[in-house]
Amino acid sequence: MMLFRPQFLGRRIVPRISKRLLSSKQLIDIDLSHPDCNVTESIASKIGRNLHLVDHHPLHILHHQIREYFHDFECFDNLSPICTTNQSFDLLRIPPDHVSRSPSDTYYLNPETVLRPHTSAHQIDLLQQGHSQFLVTGDVYRRDEIDRSHYPVFHQTEGVKLLSSTNTAEIRDDLQHTLEGLVRHLFGDVQMRWNTDYFPFTDPSLELEIYYQDTAWLEVLGCGVIHPEVLANAQRPEAAGWAFGLGLERLAMILFGVPDIRLFWSTDPRFADQFRNYEVTPFQAFSKYPACFKDMSFWLTDKFHVNDLNEVVRDVAGDWVESLQLVDAFTHPRTQRTSHCYRIAYRSMERSLTNLEVDALQERVREDTVRRLGVELR
Ligand code: PHE
Repeated sequence: MMLFRPQFLGRRIVPRISKRLLSSKQLIDIDLSHPDCNVTESIASKIGRNLHLVDHHPLHILHHQIREYFHDFECFDNLSPICTTNQSFDLLRIPPDHVSRSPSDTYYLNPETVLRPHTSAHQIDLLQQGHSQFLVTGDVYRRDEIDRSHYPVFHQTEGVKLLSSTNTAEIRDDLQHTLEGLVRHLFGDVQMRWNTDYFPFTDPSLELEIYYQDTAWLEVLGCGVIHPEVLANAQRPEAAGWAFGLGLERLAMILFGVPDIRLFWSTDPRFADQFRNYEVTPFQAFSKYPACFKDMSFWLTDKFHVNDLNEVVRDVAGDWVESLQLVDAFTHPRTQRTSHCYRIAYRSMERSLTNLEVDALQERVREDTVRRLGVELR
């Protein structure tokens, strides 16, 4: 098993800088120059933005409604997103070779420190400190695809409750009853269904889906009965309870009708001003600006991972990239080399991009893809 697959990160030239990032409560020192660090400056700049704490922000409104429902839970809204691999994975029974731990999926500052990939990273510490009924809300980081519903930083709320009963069926009933109540509190009278799921830290594990506005079944959260080993790891082997985790952006997109996840990061008053009155009102789209599509084909290297390409494109184009899709794959019959063609859609949420701007972006994407991924353009 190799945890730190060699990839472009090792070859990236990183200035030796130490970023001082101000989160509302603490000053965080992070060093992006470690050879195993795959956190880019643009990702690091998101630390401390805490959209769930920004007045009038839709994530804040949603967060407020969730807190309202769980009024008797303690709330942790500002824990540092810089966590250990122990907190994020090992103590939660996530095996060493699990894909979510790979640097193609998770942001590492060094081999033992990550930007938390989920708020579950705080379960153990808080349980160990004696808390028994709490919510944790914060930013989480995942290297992921690029489309309208994925962004490398998003926000989650984790809920944990210990019960006096140790009967698994009773705990599961309490969990399901509580979460169905939450969904009704947020969405009103919607159809819901439960599916079994798998998480290493809960057993049994479930997911809840809702059928919203007669469109489709949408997964809203993952949850389950806390695994006894997790409670033992938190030095509370006698305890029993449940946990859930939900993505705030996903829910807010449904609830407010926000069509693109990038909008949550927009400081354009045409976005922000729509939520002044703290009500859940349907979002009025203001970006009808056209998308511009560009294709790029190249021969892959052995270590190619699409998330590395996603990172290059995000670093160059920032929030002007809307999606990146594989449109063609081909293996040469003689050389056995594989070529991929990706289609990138550029679109600003705030104004029309000029052809010149898009051409310049695409040119830099091509150059950086070659330089950072070592691939050969076709
Ligand atoms: N941490 C899980 C995720 O990010 C969600 C979860 C939380 C599932 C708590 C079960 C219990 O997908």
